[in-house]
Formats: sequence, structure tokens, C-alpha cells
Amino acid sequence: MISQKLQDAINGQITKEIWSANLYLSMAFYFDKEGFNGFANWMKKQSQEEMDHAYTMANYIIKRGGTARVGQIDAVPESWNSPLEVFEKVYEHECTVSKSIDDLVDIASAERDKATQDFLWSFVREQVEEEATASGIVDRIRKMGDSAIFNLDQQYGSRQ
Ligand SMILES: [Fe+2]
Ligand SMILES: [Fe+2]
Repeated sequence: MISQKLQDAINGQITKEIWSANLYLSMAFYFDKEGFNGFANWMKKQSQEEMDHAYTMANYIIKRGGTARVGQIDAVPESWNSPLEVFEKVYEHECTVSKSIDDLVDIASAERDKATQDFLWSFVREQVEEEATASGIVDRIRKMGDSAIFNLDQQYGSRQ
């Protein structure tokens, strides 16, 4: 059985994951409107991954005898000035998510809940990938510059 405190904390993270899914969907809509269909495709996949994180956390809470909840999801931003700005925001956002997951590990360890710590390590590892992917795209856009942006758009369009 999972403690109420830990349950509440993970439920809070579920809300954040759904907010992330909405943020990336909003970015996908922005890219579609601007004609960057490849980046839009990438963002839709990214959005689906965030929903998967929410489902995984909900399933875990339920398996441990708790109650999974969908909290209030705040509105997400709707416009940006350039693809570079979008991916800079993705990177910043993933860094805040990493911090939030780290905080969950601290709560699980204070609650002496080993199973939850074990469950959370996969998210700690996932965040290493999330940050590296986002900062890699930011670097590529910066180095290649505006003239190559449509090439990058095509490349990211192939994300499955
Ligand atoms: Fe996530
Ligand atoms: Fe993420």
C-alpha cells in the first residue's frame, strides 16, 4: 500500500505530465500553422509520450492500492517566435520536470517506500534522455541556422 503523501505527490506529477502533453500538442499546432509539418509530427509523438508517462504513473498508484486522479490542468502557451524558441522552451521545461521527478524520489525515500523509489528511477533515466534530446535539437538549430531549418524539419518528420 502506498502512503497518502506519496500518492498525492505522484498524482501531482500526473497533472504535470498531462500539462506537458498539452504543451507539446500546442507546439505541434503552432508548427503545423507555420508550415513545419516535420516538427509538428515530432511534437505530436512527444505529446503522446507525456500521456504515456501519466498512464504509467496512474497504473502504478492503482497497483499499489491507491487512487489515481486527474487534477486541474492549466492552460498552456499558444505562440512562439521561432522553432529555436520552441525547442529552447522544451529544454527548459524538461529541466523543470527532471527537478520535479527528483523531488518525488526524495519523498519516496523519506517515506521509506522502496518500490516507489524503484519505480521512479526509470523516470529519472528518462529525463536524462529528454534533456539531451531537447538540447541536441537546440544545438543543431543554432549551428545550422535559418537556411537549414526546413531540412531539419524534414528529418524530425520521420520520428515514429
Ligand atoms: Fe514526461
Ligand atoms: Fe518529457
